[in-house]
Amino acid sequence: MNNTLLQQVPANKAFSQFDESVARQFAEQFGTPLFIIDEAGVLARLQALQGATQKLYANSLISISYKTNFVPGLLALLHAEGAHAEVVSGIEYEVARGLKEPAQKIIFNGPMKLDAELVQAIEDGAIINCDHEDEIDRIEKIAEQLQTKVGIGMRVHFPDAGMPWNRFGFPVTNGLQNPKTLALVKRIIESPNLSLSGLHSHIGTNIRDLSYFAKLGQLFNDFALELKDVFGIELSWIDVGGGLAGIAPYIEESTGENKITEFPLPDAGAYAEAVITPLLPYLNSLAKPAMLIFEPGRTLFEAFGALLTSVVGRRPEADDNSAAVICDAGINTLATSYVYDFPVKCFAQVENIRQTQLFGPTCNQKDQLHTPLPLPALKSGDLLLFAGVGSYCMAFSYSFIRFRPGVVLWRGGSEGEWLRKPETIKHNAQLELIPKHRKQYA
Ligand SMILES: Cc1ncc(COP(=O)(O)O)c(C=O)c1O
Repeated sequence: MNNTLLQQVPANKAFSQFDESVARQFAEQFGTPLFIIDEAGVLARLQALQGATQKLYANSLISISYKTNFVPGLLALLHAEGAHAEVVSGIEYEVARGLKEPAQKIIFNGPMKLDAELVQAIEDGAIINCDHEDEIDRIEKIAEQLQTKVGIGMRVHFPDAGMPWNRFGFPVTNGLQNPKTLALVKRIIESPNLSLSGLHSHIGTNIRDLSYFAKLGQLFNDFALELKDVFGIELSWIDVGGGLAGIAPYIEESTGENKITEFPLPDAGAYAEAVITPLLPYLNSLAKPAMLIFEPGRTLFEAFGALLTSVVGRRPEADDNSAAVICDAGINTLATSYVYDFPVKCFAQVENIRQTQLFGPTCNQKDQLHTPLPLPALKSGDLLLFAGVGSYCMAFSYSFIRFRPGVVLWRGGSEGEWLRKPETIKHNAQLELIPKHRKQYA
């Protein structure tokens, strides 16, 4: 596949106004470690994705990947701006309903959907994409019991297309020429309780090469046209998943002395063009316009989440040119720091630069926040801001030795508001039990 060079927007401006004085005020008011979300930035990114996709195809919609940043207060802000919900579990489905999201605006994906969750989603009229055959069987049974007909989407992957991920859904190779795919489609459309209403795929994550998305658009176009020609099926939705990159480099990309590479955020317009252009022949052939669903996670959130952490102490330095410091955030807070080198902003004076190792506070050998990078001589109380942590980090943060930190919405200036309080020993105590025969320890 040719490497289509990504057209890139000017360097990402997220958190550029979050200076030392704001950092100090936030640390005092909310404490550290602390996750921070740049409200204006994330809303502008949503608008850019909505605008770029709808410009090329009016029935495009942006569905937020809930698991990427599962902070209900943030999801509510995005829903208020017209984003739909993409959920992958009954828990996420319930949260979407709790946020007053109409079921018609919820896309229910994922490899495990319980019967009770499917009943709810079917009764509500949510969009369901099926991951495997047993799930189709169960939906059929439920639909029969409910005396209804359910339009389902098929999650597919294209094993021969060289996509980064092929882990979920049904393999499609050679479209309906493949007897297995043909049998699957017939099995759905011949059921009195099912119809084939959608196609879905999700090809990977942190993808900067837009040619993968163009390929996906082409594969969907060809397969959907075949379904139309052979069976007269007109789909109600095509769901192209997520996968577009954010700004943080993988550790192996963060090469060179500085190790502080930060990628510009991929251009929403170039992305939309890559996916939508090859799909237009199919989309324009339909009597009733289909929904074109996008499920951005990383590219929507990553640049607009940061982590504020304080230096708690220094280790003796091996030599004058290197340093090791301990921060109050660690792998329990930035669980993917072994995969990504998140960009670091330092608020200390820029002098006495030395290669610095940033360790976390847990008593774990692997607790390192970044590969060694050049930083000024840091001392206790200095603040660091990790940028590019808005996707998967808040969702993956966990209580291990220290509790999960809270999340604050940054509204410009020094204005901030809690979206999630930090976990405390009180929350812990609500779940933990002492055996009855050792009650004296309770
Ligand atoms: C079905 C589906 N949609 C969307 C996403 C969001 O992906 P990304 O964060 O790469 O945009 C994922 C992530 O794995 C996914 O599985």
